[in-house]
Parts: sequence; structure tokens; C-alpha cells
Amino acid sequence: EQKQALKELGKEFEITTEKLRSIVKQFTFEMQKGLERHGAKVAMIPSFVTGKPTGMESGTYLAIDLGGTNLRVCKVDLLGNGKVEIQQQKYIVPEAMKTGEMRQLCDFIADSVDMFLTEIDTDSYSEALQLGFTFSFPVNLRTINRGNLMQWTKGYCCTGAIGKDPGLMLQDSFRRKNMKVNVAAIVNDTVGTLMAHAYRDPTTFMGIIFGTGTNAAYFEKMDNITKWEDDITSEEMVVNMEWGAFDEERRVLPMTIYDNRLDRESINPGTHIYEKMISGMYLGEIVRNMTLGLVDRQLLFDGKSSPEMNKKWSFETSHMSAIEIDTSSDLADTQYVLETVLGIPSTTLMDREMVKTLCRLVGIRAARLSAAGVAAVMTHCNLLPQDACTAAVDGSVFEFYPHFSHNMMKALKELFGEEVEQKIKFSQSHDGSGLGAAVIAMQVSKGN
Ligand code: BG6
Ligand code: GLC
Repeated sequence: EQKQALKELGKEFEITTEKLRSIVKQFTFEMQKGLERHGAKVAMIPSFVTGKPTGMESGTYLAIDLGGTNLRVCKVDLLGNGKVEIQQQKYIVPEAMKTGEMRQLCDFIADSVDMFLTEIDTDSYSEALQLGFTFSFPVNLRTINRGNLMQWTKGYCCTGAIGKDPGLMLQDSFRRKNMKVNVAAIVNDTVGTLMAHAYRDPTTFMGIIFGTGTNAAYFEKMDNITKWEDDITSEEMVVNMEWGAFDEERRVLPMTIYDNRLDRESINPGTHIYEKMISGMYLGEIVRNMTLGLVDRQLLFDGKSSPEMNKKWSFETSHMSAIEIDTSSDLADTQYVLETVLGIPSTTLMDREMVKTLCRLVGIRAARLSAAGVAAVMTHCNLLPQDACTAAVDGSVFEFYPHFSHNMMKALKELFGEEVEQKIKFSQSHDGSGLGAAVIAMQVSKGN
């Protein structure tokens, strides 16, 4: 009976090559729609970032990075010879701050910047410091440093923020605290990651995040951004896709009851469903839902759960990673996660093997769906006939989830053939968006 149940789950979570192709097709269609008109599901937001950095830029800039695991504050010295010096500090954003008032969150950020400047001994400065604000949520930009928050994602839901300008609100906090800091640019993390990598490697065409959330940005020809109405001389602009919102009309994504339950319980039901099948905030919760389904059918843990296991979001994606890399014959690490961390009274080897299989199903599906997004951009940009190019990638899922990039590449090979491996390189760009935001702040303040 257990085997039968796993077999059925295997079918539900399988993404065949054929299915992948239909997802890629729908993806390129939605990208096109987003480039043509405002208000499309995949928003395809023009970032106002046009020039590729040369590596020769110089100056000192500040950067803030909000929206991933930590809040980071950085001081970036661009030395003008392709080299950079970065000082940075991580701060934990308290959970209450993520759901409180936006004004308070901005004050918290400003206080963190103040503390950071004091720590690194830069608290007396005569000219305003220029700051790149990596704000990793969908912001519809009107200029490089002005725009409106479209919606919250990834568990944030501060009040008084939607429709408002996060750059202006942060600037207000700096003003209230008499800090001479100017928010020179609002930058999505994908755009920051792309620019940071492009600073060192001009073949970089795409920035991707597989972390708490998922999203991508890439260089698009201005002629293709048909919804753009203003005059502009540059030929290219980075587009923040907000691909997490792909297929909100649920045409092709094979959502299961476990995905539906998660979606319903999230802060943004019905939206960003692609992100919810891929990214670190959600994968563990899908496995928890599947586990409880099997417990209820008396097929796992002798039909017994635990208070911890019954708690929403208690099964973290990092637990899945620990289980997936556990190759010991008695699955001792898996036992530790299930019994010690999640409080299941006792588990058999069969139980542990079953949970490991669930993690594998969810992990492989995430990697294959991620490949569909990459494949869509490659198809849209007609990259295969061109020279090899690089995608800068950041985020905890890409960095730590076992076999993630391997499974993604495997799916790409099914779509494009073995040679795709020579065409696209995924380059881990750790903590890149701070540098990227600083480079963009520099381009803005020098009028590039
Ligand atoms: C960090 C980047 O390294 O990765 C952030 O600097 C980004 O900008 C983050 O948001 C994404 O990863 P995670 O796993 O922290 O969400
Ligand atoms: C979410 C945000 C997006 C961000 C991504 C990765 O999808 O909406 O702006 O880039 O997470 O952090």
C-alpha cells in the first residue's frame, strides 16, 4: 500500500519532457504579453538600468539588501581597476517587522544603516552618501529611484506599503533621523545580481534568484519592450521579469492538492504560484502537507503526527536538504530531523525512506520547473545559436539544495540537447546584489 501511494505521488509530481515543453511555450507567451502591455501577470518590469558596467567605475557607495534571508547593509568601494572592497553587516529582520507597519520597517532599516556607519566609523560625512536599495519585491518603477510596490511576496505583508513608493518611504526615514543618505536607485535582487556579475564578466546576460523566492532579470532590446513609451537612446535595458507570477491563470502548472493547500494558507493566495512550487520559503511546506496526507491514511509514522509537525511552515527547506544528502544505511540524519527536530515519537527505516522520497519528488520538480523559466528566456532571446553566455545565480536553494543545478541542467538538456551545457553557464554569485546595487547607484549619480 505504501509503495502504491508513493507511486501515485510520483506520477503527480512528475514533469515529463513533453510537459516541460508546454510550460516553456506558455512562459514565452506570457513574457511577450508582459513586454507588450502594463498589468500582465508576468510583469516584465523595465528596471531603468541600461548600461553594462565596465569594471572601471570608481567611488564609494552604500547598498541595502532587503527581501532575502537577511537584511544586509554594505559599503562598497569601487576601486576603478575592476576591483572592489566591500564591508557588510547582516541584520535579522524580526518576524513582527515583516507584518507590521511599513513606516516601522523603514525606520528599522535606517537604524541598521546608522549602526553600520557608526561601526565602520563613517558616521561623520560631509556629502550625502548615495545608496542603492535592493528591495526584492515587485515594484513598478517610474524612474530609477521612484516606483510603487505592486504586492508583497515571500511572507512579508507590511501595512501602508502597497501602491506606495518604498524608495520615498525609506528616504523619509533617513530624513526623520537626520541622516545624509540619498536613495539613488531601487533595485530588484535579480537586477543587482546580474549587474554585480556583469561588472566582472561581460558575457553575463541574466541574473536569477533561487532562494526564499525566485525570479530573474535579463538584458532586453528596447525595441522588444513595446509597452515602453518614453524617449530613450539606449538599445538595451534590464527587465525584471517577476517570473514567480508565471501561470497565475493555472493553464499549465501541474498543481497538486498539496500546492493548493499551501497557496491558500500563504499571505498571497492565488498569486506567485510558480514561485511557490520552486523556492525555499515553500518547498518544505509542500513536503509537510504530503507527509501529513500519508499520516492520515495510516501509511506513515504508524498514523501519528506531532505538535511540531502539525505546525504550519515547521518543515523547513533546509530539513529537506539534510534528508536528501543523508546516505547512511539507517538514514540517521533523517531520523534526527523527524524525531528530534519535528518531534515524531518514532520512525521506522521505511518511514524515513518514504519521507526521503517525498523530498526527492518535490526537489526534482522544483529544479525542472526552474529549468522551464531559464529555457523560456533562452528561447525568447534566441540564445542557442549564439556564443556561450553566463547566468549569475544566487539564493539558498541554488547554493545548498542537493542536486538542484544538476537536475536543472538535465531538464535543459532534454529540451535543447547535450550541447546546451556549452551554451549556458550558471555562475554562483554569492551576496552579489549589494555590489550590483552600488554599481547602479554609481551609474545614476554619475548620470550614465
Ligand atoms: C543574497 C542576495 O545573496 O541572496 C539577495 O544578496 C537575495 O539580494 C538573496 O535576495 C536570495 O537568497 P535567499 O536564499 O537569502 O532568499
Ligand atoms: C519574489 C519577489 C521578487 C524577488 C524574488 C527573489 O519573487 O517578488 O521581486 O526577486 O522573490 O528574491
